[in-house]
Amino acid sequence: MSDASQYSKSSQSEEILARATATTASMRADLEATLPVIIDYGDGAYVYDVDEREYIDMTASSGAILLGYGHPQVTDAVCHELRRGGGLLPSTLSPLQLELAERLGAVFPCAERTLFFRTGSCATTAAIRLARLHTGRSIVLTSGYHGWHDWHLTPFPRFRQKCPDVIDFRYNLNLLEQTIAEHPGDIACIIITPEPNFFDDDYILEVRAIADAHGIVLIFDEVVSGFRYGLGGYQSACNVIPDMATIAKGLANGHALSAVIGRKEILARREETHLVGTFHHDRSPFAAALATLDVLGAPGRYDQLFAHGHMLVDGLNAVFEQQGVVAEAFRHPGLFHILFDDEDLWQDIVAECRKGGVLLHPFDAQMITVAHTQANIQKVLDTMASAITTVRTRRPERAIASSGKPSDVALNYRTLHEFGGLVDYRLPIDQIPHVWHQDDR
Ligand SMILES: Cc1ncc(COP(=O)(O)O)c(C=O)c1O
Repeated sequence: MSDASQYSKSSQSEEILARATATTASMRADLEATLPVIIDYGDGAYVYDVDEREYIDMTASSGAILLGYGHPQVTDAVCHELRRGGGLLPSTLSPLQLELAERLGAVFPCAERTLFFRTGSCATTAAIRLARLHTGRSIVLTSGYHGWHDWHLTPFPRFRQKCPDVIDFRYNLNLLEQTIAEHPGDIACIIITPEPNFFDDDYILEVRAIADAHGIVLIFDEVVSGFRYGLGGYQSACNVIPDMATIAKGLANGHALSAVIGRKEILARREETHLVGTFHHDRSPFAAALATLDVLGAPGRYDQLFAHGHMLVDGLNAVFEQQGVVAEAFRHPGLFHILFDDEDLWQDIVAECRKGGVLLHPFDAQMITVAHTQANIQKVLDTMASAITTVRTRRPERAIASSGKPSDVALNYRTLHEFGGLVDYRLPIDQIPHVWHQDDR
């Protein structure tokens, strides 16, 4: 966990921090931030802080940016809508919304029907409500992060807020099966965030089979994965079709738009509940999404994105080898992880890369965008190499020259803290550690 002392000591940052200390609602969320920089604006692969320092961004703003910051085609489409009345107009239906639903239906295998929202949290919350209505059952089985709404507070034990009828099986299939056996006929849905960097497609096939065997609605939370593995999401990439899915990040290249997509008889349950919001119909995010799909759908776009991702992943692994650190970059080029055997060393290197002008995510996936060029990738590799050298020079005892893949201990530490599960998803239940994900965020 970083703290406010990590922020830059220059004039603008200091002034903003002083004002924020007097007004922010949450020291923890606003000041002890994941990224101790105050970003002012972005352009393509770059972001700039309030002191005009330039960074190559590898966070994609929690994965929401897929084309790069301020993509001209998307910005033009949004501005065009804003000039036609400001975005929000009286009717709930709009041609833009319809066109987007049709285009999503053409690329996502599960998308017989689509319901739009503004955030990922709203989409996941709507999806579980629809699943409960459809099945007439109440219990939700979950793994991974799905947002901030009341039903999903279980992964944050430090807040001591319990969510009735929500059970986190922590990606462990023994725990999943046991929980289903303990609550016969009471499980409405399984909602799971796919983690393909850590679990093979076999894993998700098994989850699908378990859901089918018990008539449980299966929801893929594709808020992150929806556009990172190609058009059509992880469900297309692995060819396992959920009953519903939620999508958001990447959909409108950073503009607030999310959707529940799924089987028509489940989404038709909308008639039996209230899922209406004033801002759900704002036109400009739909315009952003259509422009984003135009750009993403251009021939070779994903090939280029993945080629650059591979270049980066392979290049990082070569740097780790040359520098003699036990570390690995893996696995998917569109969304990859970096794991160091020594977590403290990794945190020092993240801080050093930031000083060198590369913004890495300290405990989650790294994500490139369409805007990242080969020159950007080379700069990330060079910055990583010099960050390792600097940290090693400063603290030689922490970076003994060695190489190879990180240990299972390091891997499990990361997976437990990132999404609450272990790669060994058939571990006996009594051996699952009590450490819970998100706990120290
Ligand atoms: C997999 C997943 N689901 C849901 C959410 C919640 O989305 P939002 O932050 O837009 O509410 C997130 C956000 O990080 C996410 O990663």
